[in-house]
Formats: sequence, C-alpha cells, structure tokens
Amino acid sequence: MAPENDWRMTPMSRRRFLRGSALSAATVGATTSLRSAPVLSLQQLSASAPLFVSTWPFGKPANEAGMAVLTAGGLPLDAIERGIGVTESDTTNSSVGLGGIPNAEGVVQLDACIMSGPGHRAGSVAALEGYAHPIAIARRVMETTRHVMLVGEGAGKFAEHQGFERGSVVSAKQKAAWKMWRKEQQQASRGEGKPKNHDTIAMILLAPDGNIYGGSSTSGWGYKLAGRVGDSPIIGGGLYVSNKVGAAGATGIGENVMRYCGSFLVVELMRQGMHPQEACLETIRQIAAMDPKGFDLSINFIALDRSGRFGAAGTGQGFEYSVTTRESSRVLQSPGLTSTDIGPVGGNRK
Ligand code: GLY
Repeated sequence: MAPENDWRMTPMSRRRFLRGSALSAATVGATTSLRSAPVLSLQQLSASAPLFVSTWPFGKPANEAGMAVLTAGGLPLDAIERGIGVTESDTTNSSVGLGGIPNAEGVVQLDACIMSGPGHRAGSVAALEGYAHPIAIARRVMETTRHVMLVGEGAGKFAEHQGFERGSVVSAKQKAAWKMWRKEQQQASRGEGKPKNHDTIAMILLAPDGNIYGGSSTSGWGYKLAGRVGDSPIIGGGLYVSNKVGAAGATGIGENVMRYCGSFLVVELMRQGMHPQEACLETIRQIAAMDPKGFDLSINFIALDRSGRFGAAGTGQGFEYSVTTRESSRVLQSPGLTSTDIGPVGGNRK
C-alpha cells in the first residue's frame, strides 16, 4: 500500500501524526491575523452541555431553535430535527431545503442524515425530491425502519407513506437562475456545472445527559448531475457520532469529504486523544496529503467531544461556524490550512 493511503498508526505515521499536532497550534496563531474575527485558542474552545455546534452563520438560528426545544423539555433528537428544520425552511438559503439550487435538470434533490449516539443509530435519505424537510424523513427512517438509508423515488414513497407533506420542487427564483444557467451551458456546449454553493448545515449536540447527537442537510452541489449524492447523507462522510468519543460534521465539496470518510476520521483522531479542533486540522492535513489537489480542496469540519471541547477547521481561509450554549450563541472563525501555512504535509506527498 502506498504510504499516503496508509492510515494505520505505524511508528512512522505516529511520528507524522504527532508532528501534525504540533503544527496545528502554530497554524492557528499564524493565520489569525488574516481574518476579520480571531481564531480562539484551544483553551477557549470548551463549554458545558448542552452544547450545539453547527456549520456556517446560518447555523446560529438553527442552534438557537434547537436550544429552545431542549429548554422546553424536548428530546435531543427533537432539537436536532427542529434546528436543522429552521435552515431547511429558510427560502433565502440556496444550499439547504427547497430554496436550494436545483440539479442540472432543474429539480431540487435533497440529502440528509441524523445520528443518535445512544444505540449508535442512524437514518438517511438522499436524492429526495419534493419534500422540504429531509432531516425529519431521515429521522423517521432511523426510528421506524430496519434500514439506514433510502434514496430517490423510494425515499419519496416512504415520505408519502409516512404522511409527510410535499413542498414545491424548486423555487421560482432558483428556476429562473437554472434556466439562465442551462442556456449558458447549451451555448458553451458544456455538461455538468462547476461546484456551486455546497454549504451544508451539519449540527452536532452534546446533550445535558452527556449523550451525543448530530444531523446534516443539504441541496448539495448546485446544477449537479441528476442522482448525484454528496457527503451529507453518508454516515462517516458528512456526519459521524460516537457516543463514547464525540461527533463531527462536514461542509464543502462532498466528493472531497466522502472519498476520505472525513467525519469518521475526525472522530477517530479524537478517540486517539486529539482536541476536536486539532482533529479537524489533522483530518484536512491527512486528506490534503493524499489528494492530488492538496489544500486546494474545499473542505471544512466541525467537531465536539464528550467533555465539551469543540472546534473546527477548513481549507484556505477556514470558515465560520456557530456555537450555542445556555449562556451564549456565537459565530466563530475556524482556522484554515493552505500549503503556504504549513509547507509539505507529513513528508509523504510527492
Ligand atoms: N457538502 C454538500 C455536498 O457536497 O453535497
């Protein structure tokens, strides 16, 4: 096996791994000055439960809706479903829910998944058409079937059978933009579009009783090929929860996360003792070390662990993520990684 494909902790890879951890701290400091908001130190990235961490500034109202559910005595899974449901209902959001950019055929196809730490349960739907709240349908898959994932027409039939209300398939605004896009494509005789707007909501929760939950929802890559599924509904790709360790979620170009089981890797690195933010940084570093595009990939991770430590990291300038506790609700800046920040990764990239 080529060294860059070997993730086992051999003595050599353990040395690289530890060297990577040391670089993380240096990188955080080195990139802070390039950002509008400061990147917090690892010591500041800790809070008591309930703790919601989600991707992007649009995760803040989602977290707050989830917190309101807990405050009213709701279950953690209700909080995840309700919080992500807020983003799915936001018709100004062009990357989640039915306000999302459609696929190349002008149809919005949605992906979502949900995980419960207790019981290590999961539910997922992909390429779902005509339903505004895939997160609720993913939860229903988890709670009422013996399966984990339903896709396409079958997922739609399941939703209908379960009594979910159908929504409009694509917003008027997005339909008009799609028509323009299609005209440009025909004129240029091109096929599938470049990645456009792939900002997922991933939300992870350390509940008051110490259990961990997560969910993820997206309309995916704008103007994607019909049937394309990204990382967001893939357990271990766009989301992973281990009740013994913590949780991680992803946003960015799904193809570059799912090929590396990105969220699973973040959790696995936390299992080996890393702080959640270091685990996010190290995951990006390991992916960049294996991928021909290196740090030019667009990938971002959030993570939290059982003790309430949390963090995030992205490629390039990093990204903004939202953190909500009973005391505060904030949008924070993650550190970012570029090849100029840290130089050759782990010495294993040709
Ligand atoms: N990360 C969302 C997607 O690529 O579909």
